[in-house]
Amino acid sequence: MNTDAMKQAAARAALDYTLSRGGGGVVGVGSGSTANHFIDALAAVKGKVDGAVASSEASAERLRGHGIPVVALNQAGELPVYVDGADEATRHLHLIKGGGGALTREKIVAAASKVFVCIADRGKLVGRLGNFPLAVEVIPMAQSLVARELVKLGGLPQLRDGFTTDNGNIILDVRNLDLSEPAKMESAIDHIAGVVASGLFARRPADVLMLGGEGGVETLVLG
Ligand code: 5RP
Repeated sequence: MNTDAMKQAAARAALDYTLSRGGGGVVGVGSGSTANHFIDALAAVKGKVDGAVASSEASAERLRGHGIPVVALNQAGELPVYVDGADEATRHLHLIKGGGGALTREKIVAAASKVFVCIADRGKLVGRLGNFPLAVEVIPMAQSLVARELVKLGGLPQLRDGFTTDNGNIILDVRNLDLSEPAKMESAIDHIAGVVASGLFARRPADVLMLGGEGGVETLVLG
């Protein structure tokens, strides 16, 4: 089974989970290749949901392409389920996200959701976060200030060249941070003036992690 098939298997399991929890309402949908599999699976049962809140313009476009109504988060209220991928995940359901640069909206939609279901191929499961560079969304005028503060935290920040987020900001990809206490590092980064959000999801981890692998889909639940 290749990695893409593992992502697809996790996405299908997340759809079953979503529908088993009543479906019906508005579903939160993330960004990236794994989330795209979820969107494609959702298209086959689109009559069973009222619509979707998207965490990126790219996902919104894909949803519309399938004829799935895209709902603004401000119109939706609390979402029953949010389904999204990750770049790294631990058994504590802490995540690094933001490889696609949609981390801020992903964090907002996750915060607005009752259950956050993270879907990934098994290769994303790690013992400790931090091999994948941590994306930090920054207001452009604060680039140098934020970079200096990230260095003080032990990081090696690098501008994601030629990339602008859906919110009109830049991304610093940060290597070398000690993420052994991810919630603490998430708070420290959030407190830097000019930071919009980081791709650490530790203070609000996933609630359910579905990992597609050779032997099927393994489901881990928080707590
Ligand atoms: C986008 C994300 C994605 O969920 C993450 O990068 C995983 O991507 P993929 O599903 O393509 O492996 O956080 O900002």
